[in-house]
Amino acid sequence: MPDSSYFIRKLESTDSVQRFKAGKESFVPLKTFLKKQAKQFQQSNLAQTYVAVTSEKIVIGYITLTCSEIDLKEGYELSDCITANNYEFLPAVKIARLAVDSRYRKNGIGVNLLEYAVAIIKDKVAENVGCRFVVTDAKTEAIGFYKNQGFTLLDSEDNGTIEHHLMFLDLTALR
Ligand SMILES: CC(C)(COP(=O)(O)OP(=O)(O)OC[C@H]1O[C@@H](n2cnc3c(N)ncnc32)[C@H](O)[C@@H]1OP(=O)(O)O)[C@@H](O)C(=O)NCCC(=O)NCCS
Repeated sequence: MPDSSYFIRKLESTDSVQRFKAGKESFVPLKTFLKKQAKQFQQSNLAQTYVAVTSEKIVIGYITLTCSEIDLKEGYELSDCITANNYEFLPAVKIARLAVDSRYRKNGIGVNLLEYAVAIIKDKVAENVGCRFVVTDAKTEAIGFYKNQGFTLLDSEDNGTIEHHLMFLDLTALR
């Protein structure tokens, strides 16, 4: 890894995003979002991005969060609030993007970004607004990564046949 020291905080307008490398072709949209859209989405309150940055403010990883909801399609039941099982959708925060610069992968940055985001969702969003789940549309290659972090693959008929796979984390499992 070129430079091992970094810290995690919210994306700032002066952060350097242009050197971010996505790796293979299918990850290029993750690079494009960071370079062209993340700051604008943040200013417009559409999505908030948290970054792993070096001391020179170079972004080497990021995670983007936005409001969402989840339809569990009878694939998961809440035992602590039976009434909620009647609702079609339950409140969630979505991990809209997660990527680590390809030169810095497998060094724990992805896990650190995810843990940082889940802590914000649990301590700030769930406590103050009401939010039960963290959800993401995982690329096939990332399913193992999310499973290691406690996420469940939603077992529905169409979920395994698409390019992205809906995965969720029940925040009460973290208590
Ligand atoms: C997925 C991604 C964010 C992980 O970031 P990272 O910094 O490389 O991950 P970490 O180093 O924190 O990984 C921590 C653990 O997960 C494992 N891991 C990493 N990527 C994995 C994968 N694709 N499948 C299974 N396990 C994986 C690591 O081996 C490590 O396990 P260990 O702690 O037992 O050694 C990164 O590989 C990436 O940017 N991939 C391309 C984009 C992508 O797939 N984004 C996911 C959203 S769809």
